[in-house]
Parts: sequence; structure tokens; C-alpha cells
Amino acid sequence: MARKFFVGGNWKCNGTAEEVKKIVSTLNEGQVPPTDVVEVVVSPPFVFLPLVKNLLRPDFHVAAQNCWVKKGGAFTGEVSAEMLVNLDIPWVILGHSERRLILNETNEFVGEKVAYALSKGLKVIACVGETLEQRESGTTVEVVAAQTKAIAERVSNWADVVLAYEPVWAIGTGKVASPAQAQEVHFELRKWFHANISPEVAATIRIIYGGSVNGANSKELAAQPDVDGFLVGGASLKPEFIDIIKSAE
Ligand code: G3P
Repeated sequence: MARKFFVGGNWKCNGTAEEVKKIVSTLNEGQVPPTDVVEVVVSPPFVFLPLVKNLLRPDFHVAAQNCWVKKGGAFTGEVSAEMLVNLDIPWVILGHSERRLILNETNEFVGEKVAYALSKGLKVIACVGETLEQRESGTTVEVVAAQTKAIAERVSNWADVVLAYEPVWAIGTGKVASPAQAQEVHFELRKWFHANISPEVAATIRIIYGGSVNGANSKELAAQPDVDGFLVGGASLKPEFIDIIKSAE
């Protein structure tokens, strides 16, 4: 079965209500390939999720940027998976490097979050990726495999998981991975799934790339056999996000 192209827009901690409405109206007017060709999911900050969900065209979906590791309760400042389900938010991004590195989320903690979110019925965009130091020391594959393994140890059903490979050195830097660099890591990840999970999961899991993707470089990256889409940061706030979605064709 062919893997459907997936384009996520991670808005991170950006926007006012007015700006968010403007982004949504640009998205709503965009001409994009049909839903059997591309799946589009945008991820506004928590506080704008209901607003975006209500205004967004029905063929695009929304994701939260994080959720708590277990059932809610006395966890000040957190948002639980149950709350997202209650608001009919279908997706959540987990394990983004900004959370791993700035908020010290470990591989194990991310694995637990992914497992809990899936158990509540959310679909997960799980992020992995190496720092520049790790790449330069030749440990890229080892690092992303360890991050993936910590998820795999806690998850048995991969049908609702999209894996985002986001090299930290490419995020927000304008220094996009070359198509060959992205393809190499995506291929290694798929090989890892083949060897450690199953040939079926290896063949069906979508592995998307994130890190300085824009309207000018997306087409060439999308042409790589193991690149099944993108997780876009900065450019997802701009009209060129539509061009990135079009690279699915
Ligand atoms: O999650 C998306 C991401 O971290 C990439 O950000 O701004 O480099 O596209 P950006």
C-alpha cells in the first residue's frame, strides 16, 4: 500500500488570535491536491486549537503540540490527552527537539507520552533527530534509533504514528538537510523498523522530514523514496505552506 503524503504545520509558540485567523483564511483559500493524495495537519498553540478547528477547512486537521504523559490531575500547566480527545483534536506532536532539549524530556518520557496518547485514541506525530554535535561525531543513526526504540518499547500499534525526522541543526536555521542526507536517515529508520518491528510496519509507517523546509526546497525533498512528507515550522505560518503541500503531487 502506498504511503499517503503527510504535511504538518507546527506553528510553535507563535501568533495572536488575529494572526491565527489570517493564517487560517490563507489555508482555506489554498488550492491543494485532494485528500487521497495528501493529509494536512496544522498545529497551533493550545489556546488557539478550538478557534482554528472551528474555522479551518474540513479537509485539514489540527494537532496539539504536546500533551501530558498520563491522566490529568494535579499537574499545573499541563494539558491531558483526555482533554484533547474531549475537544475532538485528533493529533498531537510529541518529542519535539525543543521539548527534549529545552525542557529536558528524555527518550523514555517521550516514549511514555506516545504510548499514553495512543491509548486514549490520539494520533501521534513523534519526533526524533540528532544535534549537530551528534551528527559530526557520526552517531546520527544511533541517536535516532535510540529515540525510536524508546517509543517502540512502549507501543505495539504503529498505525496511528507518523515519525518526524527533524535534525536539530536544520530547525529554524535555514540550513535544510540535503535530499540525500534526509533520504539516508529515513532509509536507516525504515531499515530499523524492518529489523526490530516488522516488515509491514517498515513498509507502511510514514517518515516525514522537518527542518527549514520551504516552498523552494520541498519538491526535491519530496521526491526521495523514503520521505513521506514534512513537518514544517516557520514556513507553515506563511502562504508558501500551500506550495509545500503541493509538493505531494
Ligand atoms: O517541527 C517543525 C520544525 O521544528 C522545523 O522548524 O522552522 O525549521 O521549519 P523550521
